[in-house]
Amino acid sequence: MPQQVRAVVAKAKGEPVSIEMIDIPDPGPGEAVVKILACGVCHTDLHYREGAINDDFPFLLGHEASGTVESVGEGVTSVEPGDFVILNWRAVCGDCRSCNRGNPHLCFNTHNATQKMTLDGQELSPALGIGAFAEKTLVAAGQCTKVSADAKPEVAGLIGCGVMAGLGASMNTGGVSRGDSVAVFGCGGVGDAAIAGARLAGASTIIAVDLDDKKLEWAKEFGATHTINATSGDVVEQIQALTDGNGVDVAIEAVGLPQTYKQAFYARDLAGTVVLVGVPNPEMTIELPLIDVFGRGGSLKSSWYGDCLPSRDFPMLIDLYLQGRLDLDRFVTETISLEDVEQAFHAMEAGDVLRSVVVL
Ligand SMILES: NC(=O)c1ccc[n+]([C@@H]2O[C@H](COP(=O)([O-])OP(=O)(O)OC[C@H]3O[C@@H](n4cnc5c(N)ncnc54)[C@H](O)[C@@H]3O)[C@@H](O)[C@H]2O)c1
Ligand SMILES: [Zn+2]
Ligand SMILES: [Zn+2]
Repeated sequence: MPQQVRAVVAKAKGEPVSIEMIDIPDPGPGEAVVKILACGVCHTDLHYREGAINDDFPFLLGHEASGTVESVGEGVTSVEPGDFVILNWRAVCGDCRSCNRGNPHLCFNTHNATQKMTLDGQELSPALGIGAFAEKTLVAAGQCTKVSADAKPEVAGLIGCGVMAGLGASMNTGGVSRGDSVAVFGCGGVGDAAIAGARLAGASTIIAVDLDDKKLEWAKEFGATHTINATSGDVVEQIQALTDGNGVDVAIEAVGLPQTYKQAFYARDLAGTVVLVGVPNPEMTIELPLIDVFGRGGSLKSSWYGDCLPSRDFPMLIDLYLQGRLDLDRFVTETISLEDVEQAFHAMEAGDVLRSVVVL
């Protein structure tokens, strides 16, 4: 039976979010309804509310979630009711030009639910095709990745977006390897995950850059070996000074601003790699001398979702967590209720939290 549940909706650009009763259809072919247990507040949710992603209001926010499968539609065999799952925004199609080339982690045709959830008859746009600041949500079955139920929901959910994006920016996109030097610009949930990923991959120098000393202290707990407050002096020069004048092998931008991208660009060593994981606003532009792009060699990459393959990476990361090798608990600054999401956006803007996680 179609059901009504409480959910956090952004109705108009820049306006505070509100709690609404939304309508969820029964799962159709290839779909699942998931009872949400936890959902982290990611900066991308705030980007949606600010109209920085697109104008398809009203948005059903939340996308960094874990839950229990409640029901599945016709033909679904990958999950069944009762399974503990992390929701992902990369349900690979298996048949696009990228999948056919053996690159499902870059799938160009990822699946979301076909049916729409609605608010008073109006179609909702679920954030990243998920919409999990809600008691329940409707997704494509492929968006459900089954993991060990031994992991706490508020921790497991984080792998569904920011933590995966950051870990993968280091380990997958950036290809960080043992002995590498790495700089991470922006030490929120995503940047700190990039730091944790660099440590897991064996980087020997990990430089954290932020504007906020508290964030830099937290970054050390994830593995930063050096910190730079970007308000104090020239960031690029300070990174060069920490790397024998050379710059880092991998520079990861986890803010989404032209100025931090430029710092990352100039703070890397010759033949180094820049990874952009921060999401820029559509109006942002950047100008670089083309000779510097050419002359330094190396590669300039963007990282969507840490180039992850959920079915491969989520269970592996949960295993590392359960073995005590990946401290995911440290990302959870506070647990909150659905009513507190707007306040959590303010806490994020004020730099008070790494992750506020809604627990239901
Ligand atoms: N590519 C992806 O797949 C993906 C996935 C999730 C999030 N993101 C994006 O990653 C970015 C970070 O997300 P988050 O949740 O960690 O956000 P956050 O707001 O928690 O963290 C941003 C950090 O950047 C710092 N910062 C701001 N301006 C700075 C500057 N000029 N120099 C240095 N540091 C600065 C802030 O102090 C803060 O600590 C966002 O743009 C988000 O949309 C991307
Ligand atoms: Zn595909
Ligand atoms: Zn996110």
